[in-house]
Amino acid sequence: MDGKNVSPAVVITGASDGIGKSMAIAFAKRGARLGLIARRRELLEALVPELTKLGSPEVRIAVLDVTDFAAQRAALDGFEREFNGISHLVLNAGISGRATPTADGWDDIRKCLELNVFAALNAAEWMKPRMVARKSGTIAGVSSVAAIRGLPDSGAYSTSKAAISTYLESLRVDLAPFGVKVVTIAPGYIETGLTARNHGSMPFLMKSEEAGRIFAEAVLAGRKFTVAPWQYAWLIRILRILPNAVYDRIAARFMRRIRGK
Ligand SMILES: NC(=O)c1ccc[n+]([C@@H]2O[C@H](COP(=O)([O-])OP(=O)(O)OC[C@H]3O[C@@H](n4cnc5c(N)ncnc54)[C@H](OP(=O)(O)O)[C@@H]3O)[C@@H](O)[C@H]2O)c1
Repeated sequence: MDGKNVSPAVVITGASDGIGKSMAIAFAKRGARLGLIARRRELLEALVPELTKLGSPEVRIAVLDVTDFAAQRAALDGFEREFNGISHLVLNAGISGRATPTADGWDDIRKCLELNVFAALNAAEWMKPRMVARKSGTIAGVSSVAAIRGLPDSGAYSTSKAAISTYLESLRVDLAPFGVKVVTIAPGYIETGLTARNHGSMPFLMKSEEAGRIFAEAVLAGRKFTVAPWQYAWLIRILRILPNAVYDRIAARFMRRIRGK
């Protein structure tokens, strides 16, 4: 695709619900063509007429588990053909995962890394050479504020988000000379099915629709790093510079309280 006279062709993983669905709505309002990936067919099918009505000229779906790496690559091939090139790839599908001191966390860690890291990298690496050959495109990944420091009881989740953030940063530098943009999205607390399972308090909790709008704009603009709600941008700056001794004390007392412990 030449990328000049056609609307963006945006493919989103984890598009059936939560932040992915909210981003799809925001992209549709901006006239983007959409490729939606998730496991729940009924949710994806219901989205097709909704997004068309909102302004998307073309909405296609692929029902699959993105940890089926071959199936994900086949779906991306399909979208590449149907859209004559994916212009924006948004790697959003993710789960939270814990690792507590009293239990063997291996299963959680493996599930979390398989989805949050390996599935995302599987898709990014598949699309990377094509975008480089076209000298255009954007790869965006949904990381988290949890990537910045290891959060208590969140060894699985923090590890996965630190991995995706670091990967996206390397990719951003690598792909810049080829005209391919890389976008990192770092949500704080957003109201979705994922946070509905949280029992602690969630400071500055943001509506999914608002987050979707902010993140979709960041993807279309090719912004390098976007945090929302905005208060977490400050938290990230502070967390980054806190010495370990201070961080450990805060993590043990304050953050456990936030998480309802
Ligand atoms: N909500 C927050 O506060 C928050 C904060 C920081 C980061 N994040 C990140 O934002 C992203 C989206 O989270 P969310 O809160 O929107 O979660 P969510 O409401 O639980 O939605 C997750 C989406 O991912 C899809 N998904 C899950 N496993 C999948 C799989 N194996 N294959 C394909 N699709 C799969 C789900 O669809 P199906 O079930 O239909 O497959 C759903 O569409 C995640 O990467 C999460 O870590 C969220």
